[in-house]
Amino acid sequence: MYKLQNFLLASLIIPFIASCTSNNTPPSSAVQKITEEPPVNTDVKSDSKGTGKFTLVDISTLNKDLAAKGELVFQKKCISCHTNTQEKLIGPGLKGITRLRTPEWIMNMTFSPEEMAKKDPIAKALRKQYKLPMMVPGGITEEECRQVLEYLRLNDEK
Ligand code: HEC
Repeated sequence: MYKLQNFLLASLIIPFIASCTSNNTPPSSAVQKITEEPPVNTDVKSDSKGTGKFTLVDISTLNKDLAAKGELVFQKKCISCHTNTQEKLIGPGLKGITRLRTPEWIMNMTFSPEEMAKKDPIAKALRKQYKLPMMVPGGITEEECRQVLEYLRLNDEK
């Protein structure tokens, strides 16, 4: 008899608890509001290094040989989507980029744009703006990233 009573009680209480907890869950739109990030202004100077392989880049003196190699990389792997002026193409014009972002951020963006688009607030905002993903044809080596950074530094000295 006791057992039957317990069984009946349980069969009443369990769905009751279940309905309470499900009613307490906020609607998904409310959750989205809390986790939404504040808008990022991509035209403002940032000290962020981004996320990725490059955490410290030595840029003490402008290395013109390195920049010359970087110019070739730029012609081969970037020019289909970027100008070295402020004019937009598929992606932003890269004139002035070394004043806007840190060397590490630029190299992380060049080497692993997908990781950056997922984790870095500025890269995420740029992806939203430009709609297309940044893809370097044939990929790029760490060395080429450093060379193209030097080219962009030289381009910004002019
Ligand atoms: C297929 C087109 C494409 C190619 C090729 C490409 N990019 Fe991009 N790049 C983009 C797009 C589009 C964005 C905007 C961000 C996004 O959509 O992910 C971008 C963003 C960037 C940014 C960030 C600009 C800012 O305002 O902060 C840098 C730096 C950059 N690219 C460097 C390079 C370099 C260096 C190369 C060559 C090694 C290169 N990109 C090749 C399309 C491209």
